[in-house]
Amino acid sequence: MASITIRNLDDATKEKLRLRAAAHGRSMEEEVRLLLAALDVHAGPSITQISAPSSGLATGPLAGRHILLIIGGGIAAYKCLDLIRRLRERGAHVRPVLTKAAEEFVTPLSVGALAADKVFSDLFSREDEHDVGHIRLSREADLIAVAPATADLMAKMAGGLANDLASAVLLATDKPVLIAPAMNPRMWNHPATRRNRTTLANDGIRFVGPNSGEMAESGEAGAGRMAEPLEIVAAIETLLDITPKPLAGKTIVMTSGPTHEPIDPVRYIANRSSGKQGHAIAAALARLGATVHLVSGPVTIADPEGVFVTHVESARDMRDAVERLLPADAAVMVAAVADWRTANEAGEKIKKQPGAAAPALQMVENPDILAGVGHSKQRPRLVVGFAAETQDLLANARKKLDKKGADWIVANDVSHATGVMGGDRNAVRIVTRSGVEEWPDMSKEEVAERLAARIAAALQTIEV
Ligand code: CTP
Repeated sequence: MASITIRNLDDATKEKLRLRAAAHGRSMEEEVRLLLAALDVHAGPSITQISAPSSGLATGPLAGRHILLIIGGGIAAYKCLDLIRRLRERGAHVRPVLTKAAEEFVTPLSVGALAADKVFSDLFSREDEHDVGHIRLSREADLIAVAPATADLMAKMAGGLANDLASAVLLATDKPVLIAPAMNPRMWNHPATRRNRTTLANDGIRFVGPNSGEMAESGEAGAGRMAEPLEIVAAIETLLDITPKPLAGKTIVMTSGPTHEPIDPVRYIANRSSGKQGHAIAAALARLGATVHLVSGPVTIADPEGVFVTHVESARDMRDAVERLLPADAAVMVAAVADWRTANEAGEKIKKQPGAAAPALQMVENPDILAGVGHSKQRPRLVVGFAAETQDLLANARKKLDKKGADWIVANDVSHATGVMGGDRNAVRIVTRSGVEEWPDMSKEEVAERLAARIAAALQTIEV
């Protein structure tokens, strides 16, 4: 696989990389790793095209995509000139619509010159209506971006107004709409704007930004700065699902959640597990293009998007489901499998008998699903296990690496004080035969993104 040293990149490229990574919630190293992995998979454009594209390319990640860019009337409108350039560099076709107020900030001439297209602004222009019309403007776009989305434009959108070309297009469209709000922090936090934000989010409108910082008005600071052009580009790419797919064609089997081991028809033994971490990893792997088969124990969270889910109750059911799903390119076993089940499961509800002793449970060990996969004839190329520990974290994780035939153990401290079990955050270490990688405390989503990126990189380099 190709490699690159971030330190050696020029400042402008580093900045682009930083923004792209930030927009995806990844580290710069992971972003590079994914880009390189995508290049390896698709034998796509060279790294120079991705990091420093020359303008006017007909190729690029957005090649053939039509973006209708609605420019609202705010001081941030000037950034749209750069946004148009960035979009076109990536191969997009940009058709600009200016509101009347936007013309106070940028001229149709400069916008049209950069977009290399006609600028539309008048709802009742006989020429425009005859030529394109607001319905066709929307129909011909793959995505509509509104930048800057002013408080006024957002209010119009939320209220369903259509009294100028921009609002009419937005009301007439069934295409994805991304807005980049920009306004004074007090306007952003005003109850009216808050209501509009909620309405727009419920209507399926996607937001990028606003960022926090100094405002154009002197002495003003807070949330309200429009997202940077490259952040908007990254959000457009995400919405159009043009993120790299380094795991395309790869199949991954996963387990997540607890297992329930019945004592009788109403009682069971279980491990504490919400399934949040495993489900987040499944979704992250699917976003990178993998076909993910998740065997989930009983959880109260929704099935992850884009993932094939088999629901099971007990460890034995989970093992059977996993075995049926092999062979696969990788296995990621996150489930908190109950180590024991009752040997004497009662067919009827056990009743309390006055004066009688509590029933004695006889326990037998459950199958070790991870070990079964790790030592299987159909062993996937990459086997990842988790180690939930409350003491001697690294020593125990290393032991599990060998005992279970895993390539990596993701070790986490699940002592009560850490709040990991059922919580939203996790601090993990990746234990491999060559060492230990310590990751900082982060959200379970971030752990999932990072782990998925690492798995993608590993599957590129492991020999078939
Ligand atoms: N695991 C499994 N089947 C089991 C037990 C565990 O597949 N019956 C998997 C888990 O999904 C995890 C890894 O093995 O990936 C380690 O799980 P953990 O509960 O930490 O370890 P145990 O093997 O149960 O060992 P111990 O309880 O003694 O720490």
